[in-house]
Amino acid sequence: MLHKLLERNAVWAAMRRAEDPGYFEQLSKGQEPTYLWIGCSDSRVPENVVGGLGPGEIFAHRNVANLVHSTDVNLLSALEFGVNELGIREIIVCGHTGCGGIAAAMRGPLEGVADHWLETIRRLARRNEEVLSALPEGPARNDKLAEISVVEMVDRLCETPVLRKAWARGMAVSVHGLIYRLSQGELDNLDVTRTGAHLEGGKPGAGRTA
Ligand code: CO
Repeated sequence: MLHKLLERNAVWAAMRRAEDPGYFEQLSKGQEPTYLWIGCSDSRVPENVVGGLGPGEIFAHRNVANLVHSTDVNLLSALEFGVNELGIREIIVCGHTGCGGIAAAMRGPLEGVADHWLETIRRLARRNEEVLSALPEGPARNDKLAEISVVEMVDRLCETPVLRKAWARGMAVSVHGLIYRLSQGELDNLDVTRTGAHLEGGKPGAGRTA
């Protein structure tokens, strides 16, 4: 199947060059992305496509279930590089409905590495049992947990030294929480935006998750 991808790439590159002969030359000079996107690896949620943006506009880190682990050097490196080197001021944590990672964590015992990775989801489910048990088991409950998880991940991101230092230096960095609705193709703002290290009026998004 690789040849298919290479063929499509050749067609795409030729089309871009036809539209703008200097396109790739310009892009190769450097990147100045506006957004840092922390999203799920799910193939149905490609940040550029759902954001209607082209190459060079979003710096992305994606992992299974869009989690923020304070020990994830991959994510922390992307965050540090994005904020300190690329000068990104808009950070987005984006979850999505129908997330396979969330569903796997809710299904019960897993086998393998994913079991460790998704532990945080199971803890969140236990901590929010009251809210979740009011919803029917399955997609509705899982999608609510996906929202709760985004709120938690925004909070975790705000605790990273990279962001705490950025804010201490007076940098105007914002962290937003979004959910992508697979069945509509739309991004929903969870309104849990943080623009500083300190919470105002309690836990962010408390009204939506508790
Ligand atoms: Co997912």
